[in-house]
Amino acid sequence: MTTTRTPKGCSNNRVNVCPIRRSYVSKNYGPSITDIMAQPTKSRIFMTGASGYLGSVITEHAIAHGYEVHGLSRIEASDEKLRSLGAVPVRGDLQALDVLRHESANAEIIIHLADVMTRNPDYHAGLRIDAAAVDAICETIQGTDKPLLVTSGSLVVEADPNGEETTETSPLQKKPVNDRFKAEDHAINWAREKGVRVIAIRLAPYVYGRGGSGIRLFMQMHARNGEVTCVEDGSTRTSTVHVDDAARMYILAAEKASAGEVYNCTSSTDVTALQLAEAMGSILALPVKFFKFDEAVAKFGPFFSKFLCAVNRASSAKAFQRLGWQPREPGIIDDIKSGSYLAVTEKLRGKQVSNT
Ligand SMILES: NC(=O)c1ccc[n+]([C@@H]2O[C@H](COP(=O)([O-])OP(=O)(O)OC[C@H]3O[C@@H](n4cnc5c(N)ncnc54)[C@H](OP(=O)(O)O)[C@@H]3O)[C@@H](O)[C@H]2O)c1
Repeated sequence: MTTTRTPKGCSNNRVNVCPIRRSYVSKNYGPSITDIMAQPTKSRIFMTGASGYLGSVITEHAIAHGYEVHGLSRIEASDEKLRSLGAVPVRGDLQALDVLRHESANAEIIIHLADVMTRNPDYHAGLRIDAAAVDAICETIQGTDKPLLVTSGSLVVEADPNGEETTETSPLQKKPVNDRFKAEDHAINWAREKGVRVIAIRLAPYVYGRGGSGIRLFMQMHARNGEVTCVEDGSTRTSTVHVDDAARMYILAAEKASAGEVYNCTSSTDVTALQLAEAMGSILALPVKFFKFDEAVAKFGPFFSKFLCAVNRASSAKAFQRLGWQPREPGIIDDIKSGSYLAVTEKLRGKQVSNT
């Protein structure tokens, strides 16, 4: 008689907890040909945005944890990137609803990272595309215990009037930087109304590390401008999280979180806008230039200006307690001054040298 194999650390309470699918159990007749042929197969994650900054790091961690990853991919370059990480590229975009349905039906976990709103000139058109994609996935997984993790941001809540940390249940922003909460709310509604196991991860405004994302883009912009921009006096505090710590939270949430739960994903809530500006200024050897809010809006536009001086102190206490999540990576200031962003400085210096 064969037995099911439960890898170390896996529980049988939820089919999706275990990264190895159960093999067929023969009851009375000894090992069947199916048993003999069937090697335990890996539990599959289907991910949108898998080729992006955060998606590729989640992919790396997931594969290291024994998962198989299928990543939605729009172009050959993303196919290549996914293959190089050990993932399987699946051609399509968020409007390829049949692909989303097929992949969700064949996966144990679905992680949705692709953001069709932020760079869309019509944010609400992006929201409609996102909602249709989430609907296609949720219709497919309804009635199962498969988790769908959607991505949101900790900026959806209003800063605490006394400067304290906020939680996942703090009041929403009255004047949000964007309408991201609508996407989160649409997805979580599937949990509220139909019991689908949708979980929202609210990422810190600054996801950093591996020399990528916002800090790299800001460094490029500051290097072009010859100065580091700081809006008002830079005393506002923001939330940050290292990309590898964020990736670990996605995997823990997929394994442990319940339908309708929302988790802040931040490892620090104390870094000020001025500390960030000074850290970038010090490695780029550039001065920090202070702009009044209105001047900044006139020069850089409202989104960037609001982002740079937004107060955001979102606590991840819930993830520590319920998911057992523990951030382990270096803080953002250390990573800028003496970590992964030094290579970005070197590249920018190389460009300046080759331009002269
Ligand atoms: N990075 C941060 O600091 C930060 C902070 C807060 C929240 N977030 C959120 O976290 C998520 C991941 O961010 P990221 O920094 O990893 O983004 P990213 O590096 O820009 O990657 C975006 C990913 O989405 C895919 N994508 C874009 N439009 C798509 C579409 N129409 N259909 C299918 N796929 C599409 C891209 O695929 P291609 O390879 O085909 O282009 C890429 O894989 C996003 O929802 C973002 O808003 C990020």
